Amino acid sequence: MQEDILNIFLNIWKEHSNDVGTAFPPAFELVHAINACMLARILSDKYDLDDEISQITCLFHDIGRIMTCKNENHAETGSILIKEILFDKIKEEDLSKISYAIFNHSNKDVEDDDRLSEFVKDVDVFNSYILGYMSDKPSCKKRLHKIADLLRYNIK
Ligand SMILES: [Fe+2]
Repeated sequence: MQEDILNIFLNIWKEHSNDVGTAFPPAFELVHAINACMLARILSDKYDLDDEISQITCLFHDIGRIMTCKNENHAETGSILIKEILFDKIKEEDLSKISYAIFNHSNKDVEDDDRLSEFVKDVDVFNSYILGYMSDKPSCKKRLHKIADLLRYNIK
């Protein structure tokens, strides 16, 4: 992960960490984002994905929620915001892929043809489980077990 991109994320998080009415505690948002980025570093090759693009997508996947303090439509919002945030840091083609995966990431019930979208969904579910938030949806359980199996992690 390029240090300047990590710093862009950290500065946005800092700027919004005291906002009133945040959907999730700011500390959760930070840890969730960094964890997702680390999982991307570990697992992107298993999904046959580019390491850097996967890390950036995972780091910024909830940027819509962090910047608007709203969970509702945060994926759609984030997909637009990321194009403004990183327009001069990443080539347009890659930024479109990142934006597309961020747009899709909340639709955990839908199995996407796009590998990066699927990856972010799986990482998001596993990461949320680790932090104590787990959905009862069958689609989320399937995603959780997929990553746990890859990591040889026993779900308790
Ligand atoms: Fe999200």
